[in-house]
Amino acid sequence: MMFSLAIASAPGWTAIFLLFATLCALFSPAVMVKHENFKKCDQSGFCKRNRLYADTAAAASSWTAPYSLDPTSIKFNDGQLSGVILKSLGGGQEHVKLPLTVTFLESGVARVTLDEEKRQKGDIALRGDSKARKERYNEAGSWALVGGLEVAKGAALSEKVEKGYTKVYYGQGGRHEAVIRHDPFSVDFKRDGETQVRFNERGLLNMEHWRPKIEKPVEEKQEGEEQKEEDEQKKEDEDEQEKKIEEPKGEDETTWWDESFGGNTDSKPRGPEAVALDISFPGYEHVFGIPEHATGLSLKTTRGGEGNYNEPYRLYNADVFEYEIDSPMTLYGSIPLMQAHRKGSTVGVFWMNAAETWVDVVKSKATANPLSLGVKGHTDTQTHWISESGLLDVFVFLGPTPQDLTRQYGELTGFTAMPQSFAIAYHQCRWNYVTDTDVMDIDRKFDKFKIPYDVIWLDIEYTHEKKYFTWDPLAFVNPKKMHKHLGKRGRKLVAIIDPHIKNTDNYPVVDEMKKKDLAVKNKDGNQYEGWCWPGSSYWVDCFNPAAITWWKGLFKYDSFKGTAPNTFIWNDMNEPSVFNGPETTMPKDNLHFGNWEHRDVHNLNGMTFHNATYEALLERKKGEIRRPFVLTRSFYSGSQRIGAMWTGDNLAEWSHLEASLPMVLNQGISGFPFAGADVGGFFGNPSKELLTRWYQAGIYYPFFRGHAHIDTRRREPYVPGPPYTGIITQALRLRYQLLPAWYTAFHEAATTGAPIVRPNFYIHPEDEKGFAVDDQLYIGSTGLLAKPVTKEGADSVSIYIADSQPYYDYFDYTLYQGPGHHTVPAPLEKIPLLMQGGHIIPRRDRPRRSSGLMKFDPFTLVIVLDNAGNAEGSIYVDDGETFDYKLGAYIHRRFSFDGGRNALTSVNVGTKGPKTDAYLKTMTKVRVEKVIIVSAPKEWKGKKEVVVSEEGAKESARRKKVAFSYHEGSGKTAAWAVVRDPKVGIGKGWKIDFS
Ligand code: NOJ
Repeated sequence: MMFSLAIASAPGWTAIFLLFATLCALFSPAVMVKHENFKKCDQSGFCKRNRLYADTAAAASSWTAPYSLDPTSIKFNDGQLSGVILKSLGGGQEHVKLPLTVTFLESGVARVTLDEEKRQKGDIALRGDSKARKERYNEAGSWALVGGLEVAKGAALSEKVEKGYTKVYYGQGGRHEAVIRHDPFSVDFKRDGETQVRFNERGLLNMEHWRPKIEKPVEEKQEGEEQKEEDEQKKEDEDEQEKKIEEPKGEDETTWWDESFGGNTDSKPRGPEAVALDISFPGYEHVFGIPEHATGLSLKTTRGGEGNYNEPYRLYNADVFEYEIDSPMTLYGSIPLMQAHRKGSTVGVFWMNAAETWVDVVKSKATANPLSLGVKGHTDTQTHWISESGLLDVFVFLGPTPQDLTRQYGELTGFTAMPQSFAIAYHQCRWNYVTDTDVMDIDRKFDKFKIPYDVIWLDIEYTHEKKYFTWDPLAFVNPKKMHKHLGKRGRKLVAIIDPHIKNTDNYPVVDEMKKKDLAVKNKDGNQYEGWCWPGSSYWVDCFNPAAITWWKGLFKYDSFKGTAPNTFIWNDMNEPSVFNGPETTMPKDNLHFGNWEHRDVHNLNGMTFHNATYEALLERKKGEIRRPFVLTRSFYSGSQRIGAMWTGDNLAEWSHLEASLPMVLNQGISGFPFAGADVGGFFGNPSKELLTRWYQAGIYYPFFRGHAHIDTRRREPYVPGPPYTGIITQALRLRYQLLPAWYTAFHEAATTGAPIVRPNFYIHPEDEKGFAVDDQLYIGSTGLLAKPVTKEGADSVSIYIADSQPYYDYFDYTLYQGPGHHTVPAPLEKIPLLMQGGHIIPRRDRPRRSSGLMKFDPFTLVIVLDNAGNAEGSIYVDDGETFDYKLGAYIHRRFSFDGGRNALTSVNVGTKGPKTDAYLKTMTKVRVEKVIIVSAPKEWKGKKEVVVSEEGAKESARRKKVAFSYHEGSGKTAAWAVVRDPKVGIGKGWKIDFS
């Protein structure tokens, strides 16, 4: 960061370069996160208080949680229960009223919302002259939720009345049940009579209610040392006395009214207002989710012990410089969705709160009782959620499958946006490609070395003095020409646009933003000024609809001159990153549109900026409506509707390559699967071996981009030379070959919420041994199982196979079969990739320079038979660019190989729309050029042809014979067969008869 601040004041790119070269020679950056820049739980007042609350509860011989549901307040109407929870203070002398609603949704999901009456009514006084809102923040849903809120008509109160309890049946066939205990308040969520999720089991529900600050008497200043000392002593005594009065039950008030960290003081106009709850998952040993953390998929416990964490998982979007792995520290984005998994059941909770949040995870083992036969030991997972402000608003999912969970969460927060097809190909980035001729030169080199790529990226140095929407006039002299050059091979350019707007003269963007009053405000209501790449800056407030409207105007082609239809956008630093702010972000008492404090909305901030850019790309030119592509660093629940994310500033180290896999998998099961890590590692220079292995792994990231810090050496795939360049090229070709499978997986994510790359537990939810496996992944529903090499010098990997199906090496059809670990050779040139029996994999085998050039290429189908000799698969194809697919302009087919009938068929699974026929017409010539059958039955030996029939074909061609060859296997290598050029249309119904 220090280096980059230096650039800000340098005049041109050559000067910058020289300056950097000198600086780099002087210092090699220390690769280590600065822990002292980020809070630990005990440095975050509300976290500390609530952890202490938990400890006090646990230590008490009998802990009575002070929250009870007033039975006289309970009402049940149209699938919604409402009532008032009373928080008792001072041993029950006084009560705070907390309105509760429990909404039962048609999808089988329940939503629990708790507010504070006094604040709902605005019946509180703010400290100082604060202009902040009085309510608890209640608009997270308007950003995060897009559907799934239909209330369950069938939800019903139980007819059996048990004193002290209210029970509601809901979910399909009334299989779900919410058992609400009144005093102390708790809820058991049951499925088929068995508790799956429990609220407030440990009595840690805590809503810090509003209270007035008892101001200290103002002291008169006295002159003279003696008097001063006396006064100080007196003050201390008084403070002590006041503490005694104000701190019933020993509550720690020190951070109630203001809080300092790293030289910044946060004023708290509403005082303490945290909201916390314990949520237990009885019988569940594994919990997953709550990205973003550089940690394994199965979350560790956070209360210490061998190999565990001492800190809760933190969700507070932040620019963590040189982040460390295997850590619960916060990172750039947050998705407060957690799922618990055990054999036969997946359940979960979505804690919809956008404020700083900490989550403690504790696991307790109940050992088997030797005396009670058949009673097995089990592990319970207990979690403790603590947010600084806002409502308590939690969705409870009762599964029972991982697929149910991702679908139901997706129905609420939206599914992944269907990307343009180029966006899932390879992206080449670095900080920075320094001139337009540099960009064109890189482009030519890719072609020279026959390396496929689709997108080249420009980092912040392309701008004129860090003023977004401008080009450095000396370095990017002719951006139009550059775009045109790229467009010749269907290639695109992505330019970075950050949310900080330079505070400088002669910059119309900042002038307009200030004039229109569209920036985030400080606590006094003036536009907030802070420090980022350009130096002094303001931040556009994308919570403000007027700011979005203005932002959209900036991207029009005649406004952002030099951009073209093949320009797309990268949003970085949107946590927001503020170099001189507390924890490198904005002060919490800053104000956003509607006078919500930054504290309330912090974790949403990145998404609102990403959203504004997405909206802008939709409207660059009248009539030109194509799917936007916007990459974001910061995100929240719902960001998946807008674009892709990457895991930020990783290091060029083997351990970071390894860590990227669980991170990407976790994004997938948490509803935001269009994810990837910087290939090669951002900071530092990877060895050639590491770079090569990283490409071999990167081809399995849904978002696949090479990127590097400005201080690093160039490392485009052609740089390392033989044999590395050749090996990397092979990896890239494999990604391109499988693009049809990837695109189909994206379509599945866009329609069902299923992850694009999937962890073992998601595919094999019954396989207990594989629940924590997070170093290998399945691509969509293709049965492709990849295990990237992440260890230096490795020449094999151990792949975990969960089931008894045959798995075949993708390249040579070697068979691996049987549950357990299998050693698969992985010399440098080999990418461990297996195909699970039972699948049909679509691909395109003709090597091209970019995915755009493959648009009308023929397909190859690889059929991998299962134990019973059958296989299934699907393909989804559309124009890869427009929204016409919403009007039926797509091909979606299911392929089935039926071993009993010895035939392969293609049937339509799409729904016809107004644009279907026109689209199919554009695809009539696109055919299947090859069918490969792995583990071909030996009865096919000697066969020379098969019979192909296609719907709508002329009588003479209705049953045509096409060439077939059979190849025997040897040893562990399976036999295989090929149907050569059956000439069947990809959009047509057809059958290939092998009998
Ligand atoms: C931080 C981003 O994480 C990184 O990818 C980028 O290169 C720098 N900002 C400069 O824009």
